[in-house]
Amino acid sequence: MIRISAPGNVFLFGEHAVVYERPAIVAAIGLRTYINIERRNDDKVRVVSEGYGKIDSSVDELEKLDYSSHEDYEDEMDPLRDLIGYYFSQLNSPENGFEGKITSDIPKDSGGMSSSTAVIGSVMSALNRLYRTDVKKRNFFSHLYPIQVKIHGGSASGSEITSSTMGGYNRFWIERSGNETDFEFKNLGHHSYNLVIGDTGIEAPTEETVKYVRGGWEKDRESYETEFDRINDIVIEGKEALVNGEAEKVGELMNKNQKILRILGVSHPKLERLIQAAKDAGAYGAKLSGGGGGGIMIALCDESNKKEVAKAIEEAGGRAEMTEVGVEGVRVGDEL
Ligand code: MEV
Repeated sequence: MIRISAPGNVFLFGEHAVVYERPAIVAAIGLRTYINIERRNDDKVRVVSEGYGKIDSSVDELEKLDYSSHEDYEDEMDPLRDLIGYYFSQLNSPENGFEGKITSDIPKDSGGMSSSTAVIGSVMSALNRLYRTDVKKRNFFSHLYPIQVKIHGGSASGSEITSSTMGGYNRFWIERSGNETDFEFKNLGHHSYNLVIGDTGIEAPTEETVKYVRGGWEKDRESYETEFDRINDIVIEGKEALVNGEAEKVGELMNKNQKILRILGVSHPKLERLIQAAKDAGAYGAKLSGGGGGGIMIALCDESNKKEVAKAIEEAGGRAEMTEVGVEGVRVGDEL
């Protein structure tokens, strides 16, 4: 049996704008998704994902699947069927199937921590190990990106794939040329920042907020591009502050980023309430993370006040989680 895990992620800066070729800073967090996988003696493929569903199929059946667009995803397990089918048809068509069990530290209803990316990242790594295909971590992006695009309803940056796979704090950006998407990322080194995640408990699929922003951008490109440029400047300043360990400055820039996310229409009254509570309790800064519209917010704190910030978030009606940031990416051999 092989056990593989991949972390969830948060955006310190730059969500949404990153889909429009601006940089973002994404960090891997201490909440992980795990897969236990073992080869079967027949060609069956059985996967159970706690709270999401199961796959009961065969190598041959999965290999023939064809999800050409996000509209073909009907079931929560379809992205996984798509990935496994893609792996069998494009990378390795084995005789033996496998048995897999997926579990996660990331609460199911919690948008914004990229649980779906952690799932596809850990499964890609597990297949790679099980069938010895030797795809390098850096190249996971090109295999997983088309699936991420479908999960996000037709447009995605893929930044969470890199974060979940490589781990740490990364500055990430994409470049598109025609139908091709290329990406770059830069690891920003080790830092010990204290982060509290506040979960609104409001489900807000990233697909919907990405579409919402796309709709606004299509109507008024000039204003949206101006806001994305402002986020771009925040990311540049934020990167400097982050690598120099200037928590106060990072917090201030997170607040600025939040103001623009509000203008883009992806905040939510409950997110605002949790953000305000965190700031009132002494956080350096706070913002939503990921798609928004619900989901989660993050607050950058000091070691000395993180418990108070977490308490304030809970009192304001959120579910608080104090977590490590900048952790290891996809990894093999976690304790059972
Ligand atoms: C979603 O977690 C982050 C977005 O920027 C979309 C993406 O990067 O694909 C909203």
